[in-house]
Amino acid sequence: MADLLLGQVLSFDGDPFGLGPEAARVSEAVVVDQGRIAAVGSAASLRATYPQARVTDYGHHLISAGFVDAHVHYPQTAIIASWGKRLIDWLNQYTFPEEMRFADPAYAAEVAARYFDLALAHGTTSMCSYATIHPASVDAFFEQAQARGLRAFAGKTCMDRNAPEGLRDTAQSAYDDSKALLAKWHGRARLSYVITPRFSPTSTPEQLAAMGALWAENPDCLMQTHLSEQTDEIAWVKDLFPQSRDYLDTYEAQGLLREGAVYGHAIHLTAREKARLAEAGASVVHCPTSNTFIGSGLFDMGLAHSLRVGLATDTGGGSSFSMLRTMAAAYEVAQLRGQALHPAQLWWLATQGSARALRAEHQIGNIAVGAEADLVVVNLASTPAIAQATQRAEDIWQAVFPTIMLGDDRAIQAVWIAGKLLL
Ligand code: GUN
Ligand code: ZN
Repeated sequence: MADLLLGQVLSFDGDPFGLGPEAARVSEAVVVDQGRIAAVGSAASLRATYPQARVTDYGHHLISAGFVDAHVHYPQTAIIASWGKRLIDWLNQYTFPEEMRFADPAYAAEVAARYFDLALAHGTTSMCSYATIHPASVDAFFEQAQARGLRAFAGKTCMDRNAPEGLRDTAQSAYDDSKALLAKWHGRARLSYVITPRFSPTSTPEQLAAMGALWAENPDCLMQTHLSEQTDEIAWVKDLFPQSRDYLDTYEAQGLLREGAVYGHAIHLTAREKARLAEAGASVVHCPTSNTFIGSGLFDMGLAHSLRVGLATDTGGGSSFSMLRTMAAAYEVAQLRGQALHPAQLWWLATQGSARALRAEHQIGNIAVGAEADLVVVNLASTPAIAQATQRAEDIWQAVFPTIMLGDDRAIQAVWIAGKLLL
């Protein structure tokens, strides 16, 4: 049976970085049927067209595409908000010891379940995650995603140097394990395998080349890694790859730069790197709560005019599971660079922008006819502080912005996955 949802239905006709806030549209109603968006329009016309539909009236709540988190490390769920340290120390002190625990498949399953429960409670309906080097950590992620019916992306994190014993694979085993996991999961239900070398400091050129070969054999996959997050990391890459022109070149030289490449952080880019990323049609992902928390730097949102830019929590380097909190941090970081991002741009980044960065913009991230019906219903007055701030709102964006800046999981009223009410 079709469902007719009433509320403030937010959708995008295009990219607000190009078109401005006029790219967004608010309608009164949306019909979901057989897992997809069947119609968007006025309440009266959709009630007339779908007289049999079951009606749910969400009043003044916002109905949006579910949030898409384009870069997360689900195995770092338990170490979120660990105090202090810059990137490399943080990896060595907190991240690697925690990722070591994923040698136990039962622990991987427990954390994967906990991660998805948290993500969904925060309105995130799709995510692109790193697992650990353990193949069972990929199985755990996809099993939990499939049980919830989610469109989800992940891959085995590959590292064959500069990581502790127990967290290293080899060029050959990374290739073999990734290939087997890809064959098992890619295209099953709503799941996609992502080829995942962690970053150049923890992969030899041989391992990067093996990942490049696997990607060439499976060109419709995404490939994700980290790029130019911290200045000391970049200096380390320069030492490790003396022959490379820059950080991006360490990937480019091994067949790891083209459309479908998704680079996390991408803060301290050279002019050549920016030009090559644009030319190649690659994606970059802004992780603002992580970039401030680990002290990495201020992402240049000007890139959104030439590149596919996604938005992400980067849990657990990021300090929140909430894409609302992440939008707030993106706003603040842009302000520090002299740019005021419009709430339409922030919301688009957290939905359609991230979907586009993952080349899934026709499936998820927007309320458009034919798209998959993953929806979040957002209470725009979820706390007394937000409610009083929105009292005199004169348009939709004045009504939404306090929730972007002050909102969290308390704002998430309901979550629909593939046309079914999940929460
Ligand atoms: N660079 C390489 N690995 C990681 C990670 O796990 N988190 C972050 N923030 N940066 C990384
Ligand atoms: Zn990361």
